[in-house]
Parts: sequence; C-alpha cells; structure tokens
Amino acid sequence: MSFRHKHILGTEQLSKEDIELILDTADSFKEVNTREIKKVPTLRGKTIINLFYEASTRTRTSFEIAGKRMSADTINISASASSVVKGETLEDTAKNIEAMNPDIIVMRHSASGAPHYLAQRLTKTAIINAGDGAHEHPSQAMLDLMTIREHKGKIDGLTVAIIGDIAHSRVARSDLYALKTMGATVRLAGPGTMIPPGIERLGAEVYTDINEAIKDVDVIIMLRIQMERQGNTLIPSLREYSQFYGLNTENLKLAKPDAIVMHPGPMNRGVEISSYVADGSQNVILEQVENGVAVRMAMLYLLAGGQETE
Ligand code: CP
Repeated sequence: MSFRHKHILGTEQLSKEDIELILDTADSFKEVNTREIKKVPTLRGKTIINLFYEASTRTRTSFEIAGKRMSADTINISASASSVVKGETLEDTAKNIEAMNPDIIVMRHSASGAPHYLAQRLTKTAIINAGDGAHEHPSQAMLDLMTIREHKGKIDGLTVAIIGDIAHSRVARSDLYALKTMGATVRLAGPGTMIPPGIERLGAEVYTDINEAIKDVDVIIMLRIQMERQGNTLIPSLREYSQFYGLNTENLKLAKPDAIVMHPGPMNRGVEISSYVADGSQNVILEQVENGVAVRMAMLYLLAGGQETE
C-alpha cells in the first residue's frame, strides 16, 4: 500500500489506513535502531532539512537520527543562527532552501499553520510538521500510538486520558484526532481555563476533575503547562495546579492496574507528574522517545519514496 499524501501536516488529515501504514512501517524500521551498525541505504541520495524556529530536544534530534540512519543527507537550520535574524521572511527562507533541491523540509514554528503556509507556496518539497504553535504535532501522535499499540496490542476500544494544558497543546490535538480515528475513547481533563471551548465537537469527553478523568483508563498522557504560550495567568499557582491536576501514586491507582503513563516531554517533575510516577513501573516515557526515531524514519521513508531495504 502506498502513502497518498505529499506532506504530513497533521493527524486531522490522516485516515485509519494512513495511520496503520505509518505505524506498520515504523515497526519494520525499529529493529535498525538496535543493530550494532545502525544504518540502511533506504534514503541514500535524499536531502532532508530540519528547519526549527522553536526549541526542541526530542523531535529535532530524532528526525536527524532517523534521516542519518537511512543514509539521507540531513541538515539542521535553527532560526536563531540563520538569516531570519536579519529580517528574512519565512516564505523567502523556505524558497531559498527549496532552490537547493532538498526532498523534505521538517519544520517547527511557533505560529499555527506555518507548515501549511509553506506547503501551499513550495512546489517541489515535501513538508513535515514538527509542531506548529498550539495546533498539531503529528509525529508525536504517531509515536504515542505506536507505544500504546505495543503495550496494549490495539488502539480500538481503549480509553485514553489526556491531562493538563489542553488549550495550548499541539500534542493533545494531534493525539485526539489520531486516537479517535483509530477507535479509542479520549478523555481530556484540566482546569476550565485550559480546556478550549467546543473541543467536545472533536469527539472528546471533557472533565475538570482528574480523579474522574483517569478512573479505569488504559492510558494516561500527562502534559506540561505551556508557560511560553500562555504565561502563568490561567492558574492560581503551580503548587495548587500540582495538587489538583498532578499525577501521583495515589490518584494513579484509580486507573486500570495495567494502565501506562505517558508524557511527550519536556516534563516538569513535581508539577504535572510526581517523580515517583515519572520513574515508576507504569511509565513508558523513554519508550515513547525510542519509538520517536522509528516513527520519523517511517514518515521520511513514506514521503521520500526510498528504496526497499534488505
Ligand atoms: N515532545 C517534543 O516535541 O519534545 P521536543 O520539544 O523536545 O521536541
């Protein structure tokens, strides 16, 4: 089965078949990452540019590793070290990069819709959204679903609670679209000020009490408060937030005994998640990071149309 999209801009546009293809492809690449020689020729001759206008540890590094392990030439551009600081527009920057004939631009930007804007203006290059403002983060959603599927053997029929600053979370939105498409029930919970009005219309169940939200769930995804997007004006204090919305060993007992605990990172230990839970037996947080490389290999492969590996 072939991938029918030129770009990957969000999970809202992905069908069940698209998601299954990405996850199955990621499964097949995962083994490469544990070999002694972690390299296949799949994307030899392809060029991938990571264009990041916002900070990143996991996403940028794993896209770079993914490209390199498939033998692509990968180049990182940070806005702070580019001609953006001299006043160049996003469109001019992207058109100049496209003039060098890359195959894929992986882009993170603080403005929602920035990758879509580029996708409409560039003619040759595929775009992968690596996070746009509070809008979408499709590769994070795919690695989340891969991790859930590995632990639960399926996604259909599961109940997943996503807790925290939903309003400013691109992860919450991408997870919600993808999980609903795959047949999961999604509960969103957080202070009323951090729940976007009308989110129920996307198929979510909305809670303001964390204890109700995590009761009998299969999966808990904790989110940090996005201070860089909302300041700290939506909650009285971090201490109170932690008291009412933090995941700890006590309220975790309300979930199913085999529930898994996830976090996209970066974590604020002691705020949305206690260290006991973050390091506890139910956490799969570093497995998410490991799966991030395989998922990004799959996305690059499906868009760049690489050769078959051995
Ligand atoms: N989860 C995630 O997007 O992490 P980074 O900001 O470090 O890329």
